[in-house]
Amino acid sequence: MKHSKFFDNLAEKWDAMEREDIGRRLSRVVAEAAVHPGQHILDVGTGTGVLIPYLLEAMQEEGHILAIDISSGMLEVAGRKAFPANVDFLQADIAESGLPENRYDRIFCNAVFPHFTDKSKALSEIRRLLKPGGRLVISHPIGREAVNSLHQGAGGVVAEDRVPSAQVMISLLEAAGMIDVLVVDEPNFHLVLGDKAVAGS
Ligand SMILES: C[S@@+](CC[C@H](N)C(=O)[O-])C[C@H]1O[C@@H](n2cnc3c(N)ncnc32)[C@H](O)[C@@H]1O
Repeated sequence: MKHSKFFDNLAEKWDAMEREDIGRRLSRVVAEAAVHPGQHILDVGTGTGVLIPYLLEAMQEEGHILAIDISSGMLEVAGRKAFPANVDFLQADIAESGLPENRYDRIFCNAVFPHFTDKSKALSEIRRLLKPGGRLVISHPIGREAVNSLHQGAGGVVAEDRVPSAQVMISLLEAAGMIDVLVVDEPNFHLVLGDKAVAGS
């Protein structure tokens, strides 16, 4: 089974799945990313759009969010949520999105990074899409260990999908050309930030 089909099958149940204290954790992800009004934001693997309200709040509704996902089922649920006109959706794989380069101030990957089939390719593409000075934000609000055991327990196509160690993560981001890579690895919160150099292209 492909990842898209796996998440299609989860789409209608996704929002009802219990995630302890998730609002506070998602607010923290957005705060640590330093989102500002007027920014252009890409929400990769948006799912049902769980992160979008927190982004909109930080942007004070000014700016634009493009939310992409490979799962049509997830996007259908997200599309029913009546988000404002500055939120658009696109069915696409981040590794080959075809989006314009140097476009985004912030690119979020919330609870999606382990599912990327080719992580290096996805990171190179993300760097291409970021504006010089833009920031990549990879987050797992329930923590690295919890995500990894969840995937192992779920089995099937996600069984081997892992949040890499901090060391591997830093190597992957630096190999993709990101700078100032920072990893926050707490028991119940995992965050990776990496910037595209201001002079980069
Ligand atoms: C675990 S869900 C997380 C959804 C949402 N970010 C959240 O926090 O609730 C992962 C999502 O990423 C999507 N996804 C997986 N691989 C992707 C890729 N290569 N490009 C875009 N989306 C992807 C899946 O379809 C799924 O909707």
